[in-house]
Amino acid sequence: MNSLPSNACLSYLTRPAWLPAFLLACGLLPAAPAVMAADNPPRERVSFNTGWRFQKGDPAGAGDQLAYAKIKSWMTATGADLVNPVAVKPVRPEGNLGGGVPYVQPDFDDSSWRRLNLPHDWGIEGPFKQEYPGDTGKLPWWGVGWYRKHFTMDAADAGRRVFLDIDGAMAYAAVWLNGQFVGGWPYGYASFRLDLTPYLKTGTENVVAIRLDNPPDSSRWYPGGGLYRNVWLVKTAPVHVAHWGTYITTPAVSRDAATVNVDFVLENDSVQKVEAAVTTRIHELGPDGRPAVAPVATSEVATVVIDPARGREAARSNLLVVNHPRLWDLKNPVRYVAVTTVEQDGKIVDRYETPFGIRTIWFDPGQGFFLNGEHVQINGVCDHHDLGALGTAVNLRALERQIQLLQEMGCNAIRTSHNPPAPELLELCDRLGMLVMDEAFDCWRIGKRPNDYHLLFDDWSEKDLRALVRRDRNHPCVILWSIGNEVREQWEPDGWRFAAHLAGLVREEDRTRFIISGCNNVDSGYNGFQTALDVVGYNYKPAEYQPFRAQHPAIPVLGSETSSCVSSRGEYFFPVSNDKAEGRANFQVSSYDLYAPRWALPPDVEFKGLDEAPFAAGEFVWTGFDYLGEPTPYNADSTNLLNFSDPAEQAKMAQELKALGRITVPSRSSYFGIIDLAGFKKDRFFLYQARWRPDLPMAHLLPHWNWPERVGQVTPVFVYTSGDEAELFLNGKSLGRKQRASLEYRLRWDDVKYEPGELRVVAYQHGRKWAEDVVRTTGPAAGVLLAADRTALTADGADLSFVTVTIADQSGRPVPRSKNLIRFAVSGPGEIVAVDNGDATSFEPFQAGERHAYNGLALVVVRTKAGEPGAITLQAQSAGLTAAEISLQSTAGN
Ligand code: GAL
Repeated sequence: MNSLPSNACLSYLTRPAWLPAFLLACGLLPAAPAVMAADNPPRERVSFNTGWRFQKGDPAGAGDQLAYAKIKSWMTATGADLVNPVAVKPVRPEGNLGGGVPYVQPDFDDSSWRRLNLPHDWGIEGPFKQEYPGDTGKLPWWGVGWYRKHFTMDAADAGRRVFLDIDGAMAYAAVWLNGQFVGGWPYGYASFRLDLTPYLKTGTENVVAIRLDNPPDSSRWYPGGGLYRNVWLVKTAPVHVAHWGTYITTPAVSRDAATVNVDFVLENDSVQKVEAAVTTRIHELGPDGRPAVAPVATSEVATVVIDPARGREAARSNLLVVNHPRLWDLKNPVRYVAVTTVEQDGKIVDRYETPFGIRTIWFDPGQGFFLNGEHVQINGVCDHHDLGALGTAVNLRALERQIQLLQEMGCNAIRTSHNPPAPELLELCDRLGMLVMDEAFDCWRIGKRPNDYHLLFDDWSEKDLRALVRRDRNHPCVILWSIGNEVREQWEPDGWRFAAHLAGLVREEDRTRFIISGCNNVDSGYNGFQTALDVVGYNYKPAEYQPFRAQHPAIPVLGSETSSCVSSRGEYFFPVSNDKAEGRANFQVSSYDLYAPRWALPPDVEFKGLDEAPFAAGEFVWTGFDYLGEPTPYNADSTNLLNFSDPAEQAKMAQELKALGRITVPSRSSYFGIIDLAGFKKDRFFLYQARWRPDLPMAHLLPHWNWPERVGQVTPVFVYTSGDEAELFLNGKSLGRKQRASLEYRLRWDDVKYEPGELRVVAYQHGRKWAEDVVRTTGPAAGVLLAADRTALTADGADLSFVTVTIADQSGRPVPRSKNLIRFAVSGPGEIVAVDNGDATSFEPFQAGERHAYNGLALVVVRTKAGEPGAITLQAQSAGLTAAEISLQSTAGN
């Protein structure tokens, strides 16, 4: 959005000028010298993930003294930096919160507590239980959990500021250090900082205690529970760049030169008046994230004087010009880093790095989205934050694998539905070239669940929204801020006031990106709600793009959430119905990609809507990956027999219905994914690939061809291809050549009569042979095959290999409907962290050494051990089948 001016930075006076002196007098602030010990590096950010102790539940006798309602005034005093100066700032009450609770006390004996490292999601450990709500995954993620960590600070750290940075804690985190309450943050998706300095002891042991309280009935999907993201310790000098204290804009960009404006906020936590000299240098980052040695630009020195008697912070800018900038784009996502150096009395007291990219973005009402002046159709997906069998515990490689799979499909954008993502997701999107719609909330003041965010909205929405934007506004991948998903206020007469208010907060923090809100109420385009924003986002309304444009030709429009087609990998039910409400059996959904809930649509309908409205910027499909929870269409127990395909199963269910008056539904994860929960591609992957990668010669046939019970029966065959024509052959005999008509996105042979053998499709493009696909009837299961996505791993205790386990026949062909139990064993410096198979109805634990295959496939996730390089061997055995083994190599990182 280079046509808009860059905004000045957003500095808010956060503490009254007298506060440092006051805290000092109270003994709450060490008499910090303005410059720290000479041998300390200017700034350190170290992982704080290892060596935690964990325990579920409050100590006996604690009662409800730490319930949010009772401690709210303590919690809301946290994050005052994020509140507008004209608002009344919450003041921390006198005394110490929860000082008498044993778990917060430094000398409490926690040796019997479980030892673990972060990130940690206690919900994913299970077990699944039928009686737990399916919409949150039938997993036990709610309740209270405590984490404690003992750590020692060097005597040399005396005089430094020490901050605890928590990327996300689910939920209602309250933090104590050495028995003193430090602060807290309720929103489980928010990143936040706490200043440990007043309570920290150097040269001796410290104990941090964190209480989480995850309310039941607070989410529409599986939220996870625990310290599920990374936690950091940040050490600085008293004079330092503030938290998320830089804001980089590129107000003028051309191929010849880019103006780079680096706004920064400097803080002085000492009691002395200081004069600091601040300079920024820009270096290009290599694909490995390392900066080039020589800077491409160096700013002038900005002199900043901060007198604590008048205020403890100041905002200034460094202005730079990068000649011949290498622009960040999707094919070549070049990044730079701005290194801001703060000097005081000739010594460097802070060095703050801000990775960023140089690019322009623009949403044009008539032509859609532009990146660096070039049109880019947004081929996006929505995703929730869980990583399937790994739960919500963030893992860099698991996120990277997701992005790589999406890119293979031609996807170029992710919507972080419906909450702030892990920072690592944005770092990966920057590095790999993915666009992002960064979303804040699933509800505002009117809730969707009894205990969801609506309870926090009044006290926290400003902080949470500003925190999101301030944290993420330097990422080139972020193009849209979404202030909400299908919030109920879109239906209210005064809903637009809330939309305008929240958009105003975003604009104060960043005016270089576009603001949107995913709306499912058509009227929200006309009742003032969406027009208070920058881009109109319709959820599931492809027919509305044209009428909207007719009335609002100056406002860009986007499919902010689309399709919601449902399917289970490898399931096909007959006869094939075109009715979107059909296609169900055995708590699965047929994979002919024709089925969707009431409000939703098969993919083709959205494609047509977009093709008829070429001015629309594109779509975000619901969803890229299956996720835990929301198992639509099997959300609730049922009273119908759901077309059980197996007569024995149907008889069993009929009995259950008679006895209970209902059929209990086992489903615990979604059917919406284009890719299943284990990361295996469903047929739909190829329907999107055919559209999103038109230059890739590809063809995909469905269904599988193992139907011994269907010989002679009509078994429709669909083909997804980027070609414009295709010919289908069954056992060498042509079943006809078909052309894709305009506004048609799949080729169908609806009358194929099944006979075993070989089904082959030859696709053409402009009359030339383009691609082929073959499906053959297989023999019985004969062996297990293992294939790792990566065999060369880093011995850091976090790197993962995702190993696909295939049940194959004699000739190595996957046997489509096989469900064999496979047992795994690992030797060497690795461990199995999760197993899965993509079956949305399975109650088998994710953390196990065995798994049934689901329709021929299972997944094993192997993790390396920190500091233990070596060869890892994974073995897989299944009764009556040839076993398999695979070797992985874990090497020391650098
Ligand atoms: C939408 C909603 C999503 C998800 C989806 C399922 O209306 O925004 O969160 O529930 O429906 O189709």
